[in-house]
Amino acid sequence: MNNAPIGIFDSGLGGLTVARSIIDQLPGESVIYIGDTANSPYGTKPVGTVKTLALNVMDKLVERGVKMVVVACNTASATAVFDARQRYEEQGIPVLEVISPAVHRAVSATHNGKIGVIATTTTIETGTYQRALNAYQQMQVTAKACPAFVDFVERGITSGPELIAVAREYLEPVKAAGVDTLVLGCTHYPLLAGVISYVMGPEVTLVSSAEETAHDVYRSLVENDWLNENDTTGQKPRYEFLATGDTESFRGLARRFLGPEVANVGQV
Ligand code: SIN
Repeated sequence: MNNAPIGIFDSGLGGLTVARSIIDQLPGESVIYIGDTANSPYGTKPVGTVKTLALNVMDKLVERGVKMVVVACNTASATAVFDARQRYEEQGIPVLEVISPAVHRAVSATHNGKIGVIATTTTIETGTYQRALNAYQQMQVTAKACPAFVDFVERGITSGPELIAVAREYLEPVKAAGVDTLVLGCTHYPLLAGVISYVMGPEVTLVSSAEETAHDVYRSLVENDWLNENDTTGQKPRYEFLATGDTESFRGLARRFLGPEVANVGQV
């Protein structure tokens, strides 16, 4: 057992979808979440900039004594995980990311071998998803950057005619490719799953990395013998939410997207 919290971060609110799954699947674990809202979005920034920003936030989590870092941001997963593993794993802190779990899920879910990936511009440009999916034989991958989606989520807009119009435009080539499975390759996108599913149609399976990443976290905790089971210890988990930008607006939206576990939001 290891009572230290799990560190989770994202450029903003999207990683809360991963935090929600981790809290649900691991109710004995404490969590520290940082939203790097002062630097959001990551997905339109060059790779080197995202790497520097992401390592800076991960340093803050490690300073707070986390036992594991979960990179709950696809853009940071596509750009900074190699460096993060070199930096923290020698200190005994595993670094988990969100891309491989989504890829495994999509490959198991597809029936026709046609998989779509939507993500930020930077994630799509790195080709990380395309390479990982193409490593499986006979997959036909259609990738599309949807840069405006993050901005909608960060403004708290998850439905409405303006969003539907933008979604129709972005998703048109993915739909035309006949995909039966669509990877939501940005942790903000599950918050738009209603609109995305409406535009793609009910026959298309949406894959988000949140639940699958939580399975990976569970596996890693068990392998390290670090799992906290609150029913045996009687200890209550602690949840701490921090933002690099405005904490009040983050708190309001974080409570809406994650739930009542978000009591206060601290500044970092
Ligand atoms: C962003 O900051 O642009 C989105 C985060 C992600 O890629 O999951």
